[in-house]
Amino acid sequence: MITNQWYAILPSKAVKTNQIVGVKRLNLELALFRNANGQIGCVVDQCTHRGAALSLGKVKGDCLQCPFHGLEFDPSGRCTFIPANGKSSTQDLSRYKVKSYAVREGNDIIFFWYGDPDKITDQLPFFNTDVDDSYVYSEILDQWHSHYSRSIENQLDVVHLPFVHHNTIGRGNKTLVNGPKVEFLPGGLVTSANNEVDVGQKPKKAAECIIKPTYLKFLFPNLWMNHISDKIKVIIYFAPVDDENTVLYIRFYNRVTGFKPLNRLIAFFGKFGNRIIERQDKRVVITQRPKASAYKSQENLLSGDGPIIQYRRIREELKNQ
Ligand code: FES
Ligand SMILES: [Fe+2]
Repeated sequence: MITNQWYAILPSKAVKTNQIVGVKRLNLELALFRNANGQIGCVVDQCTHRGAALSLGKVKGDCLQCPFHGLEFDPSGRCTFIPANGKSSTQDLSRYKVKSYAVREGNDIIFFWYGDPDKITDQLPFFNTDVDDSYVYSEILDQWHSHYSRSIENQLDVVHLPFVHHNTIGRGNKTLVNGPKVEFLPGGLVTSANNEVDVGQKPKKAAECIIKPTYLKFLFPNLWMNHISDKIKVIIYFAPVDDENTVLYIRFYNRVTGFKPLNRLIAFFGKFGNRIIERQDKRVVITQRPKASAYKSQENLLSGDGPIIQYRRIREELKNQ
């Protein structure tokens, strides 16, 4: 896992007002809760009294109340009240503090700071220059039995298109992989497929290729976009559950017409297309061994794997920072 990053972990709508949600993300059992003011908090899902799951408790004012013996915790994890000791108690409760994590929201996504709280940045990763309020989107999710690095690499893989997606987005038997060209952005990279039907020509080198109007963009640590056109985009955030599982949240964005209700209908149907493609990928990616990818590996990579190699390289650099 890369540290000191904002990871997209859940859609905002997954944690409703006055609700607590227990969820595993980044190998941590977490309790996320939202108070009556809409503010969100996140603590370890284990009470410091006798270990019960706080996610089974309830939101009380700004605090979270354990379901077992009613201890109350504020969003920073500080224990504010122990009912059994009574309101008049003046006991120091500092040893009951539960570990809390910083969470923030943007673009209807909950982001989780994985790393040193002193290094928190204000900027949440997102494709702000690509989508704005003129778009509407639909979202589906699916859990893959794969490490998030594998599911991300699959979305940067242009070599698999004519095989995994031979009857959908990879139709046309374009098995010859030119390049692909990779360009770097602050916090990520851009690439695009330049595949062709093989009529005996030599594949072009990356430097001879261009980034096409339909391109792929990736932002560390876990956001990906397919820029299909000026009017249609697919965005995926890959929420790491643990070392072998990832939840993919897949959004279909569009502004095909000037009429939002109609665009909502288009988004509604667009998600079914996304599901078909995603299931084609999942079938194969969950079989990859080892579960997580690595910069130094036994794999025999191809020129066409360039975007994956760059992803691994940058990931390695960020991990070592
Ligand atoms: S285990 Fe939470 S209050 Fe006792
Ligand atoms: Fe795919």
